[in-house]
Amino acid sequence: MSTVVIVGTQWGDEGKGKVVDVLTEKAAVVARYQGGNNAGHTVVIKNEKYVLHLIPSGILHKGKKCIIGNGVVIDPSALIEEMDGLKEQGIDIDDNFLISKSAHVIMPYHTAIERENESRKGNNKIGTTGRGIGPSYTDKVARHGIRMMDLLAPDLFREKLAANLDTVNFLLENLYKAAPLKAEDIYSQYMKYAERLSRYIADTDVIINREMDEGRNVLFEGAQGTLLDIDHGTYPFVTSSNTIAGGACTGLGVGPTRIDKVLGITKAYTTRVGAGPFPTELKDELGEAIRQKGGEFGATTGRPRRCGWLDMLVLRHARRVNGLTGIALTKLDILDGLDTLKICTGYTFEGRTYDDFPKEIDVLHRCEPVYEEMDGWKESTLGIRDFDALPANAKRYIRRIEELMGTEVQIISTGQKRDEIVVLKEQF
Ligand code: IMP
Repeated sequence: MSTVVIVGTQWGDEGKGKVVDVLTEKAAVVARYQGGNNAGHTVVIKNEKYVLHLIPSGILHKGKKCIIGNGVVIDPSALIEEMDGLKEQGIDIDDNFLISKSAHVIMPYHTAIERENESRKGNNKIGTTGRGIGPSYTDKVARHGIRMMDLLAPDLFREKLAANLDTVNFLLENLYKAAPLKAEDIYSQYMKYAERLSRYIADTDVIINREMDEGRNVLFEGAQGTLLDIDHGTYPFVTSSNTIAGGACTGLGVGPTRIDKVLGITKAYTTRVGAGPFPTELKDELGEAIRQKGGEFGATTGRPRRCGWLDMLVLRHARRVNGLTGIALTKLDILDGLDTLKICTGYTFEGRTYDDFPKEIDVLHRCEPVYEEMDGWKESTLGIRDFDALPANAKRYIRRIEELMGTEVQIISTGQKRDEIVVLKEQF
């Protein structure tokens, strides 16, 4: 038995979906541990594109158990839409999909409150995905959240909903000057969702631990990335969950002693969507060229992603807080054809040089990156499957990343498709 956590080492969109898809081949269980339908994992199989927001990408393989853990927040309508979409694409999820009883439910007031909050922030907007993620986690921590199991107890659900709407409608009417929400409308809508989802709701912590006890391989699928972590990211420009590897323990009910490997998914350059500091951002034609070539537009919101050079302070921070055992380097082919590549090795701010990622948001906003330059390569790396077949300068780039980060590159993704990959070290 072996377990591997898949975690993003940057600001999300590192290409986790494809790596999870490839590793699922040898796993029996794939489990999501945090986030919600703010995520967007794209997988291309035989020219068919699948975009998953909530359901683990393992679902694209027959017979794999796919679990949404307690650490995830679930918008039932988005989940049902995703299930229907998969069915239309010929993927039947009925026998192998499970949702934690304890996962919190995103309610219509969460999206309404988020919309109002963001619009009142003006220039200080976080640029959220608008899916109600933050307000839903806020309710969880404030201890008045509604959980999936509450959908199975209609009287209790009605009671909790009424109590929550008391406060929510007061805020909507008096603070935000917005229309109040009607309890009855929400109740009947959510009871319909409950009817559709009840068969999947289970004690997933028991199930996942049993699978491990019986010696099966398990993949823990993270969403977003380390720098969006509520504790270890660029706060307040973060999401509201623990995106780091430790989130797999709290978000699934799995003890830390049961995690064998932590694979950090790392894009060969850096992107960020939404507001917040990004020291190596390229605000020029090159940034635009990378965006176009890399298809750097949000899988969930369609927003253009900000693009920039690889940042070692970000990656070393990710190595530390996740305890990475290796990395999977993705989208290497997007850098083909560049004359020069830059890797950020430090920041300077007010006469001081930083080697470790600073916590202060002001420093991050105003620091200057220190770059190391390397020659690029002209040859195409698209679809290469053998490390030795990579251009010499691409190999140098990879080896330099390993040196500067102190972590082994174990997988290299050289294209969107499943088989466009170099595997240097098996994870299972
Ligand atoms: P929220 O998760 O919708 O609250 O958004 C908070 C921040 O996280 C925003 O900057 C979003 O753009 C960013 N974010 C959330 N989910 C993803 C993701 O899956 N990929 C990249 N950025 C994300």
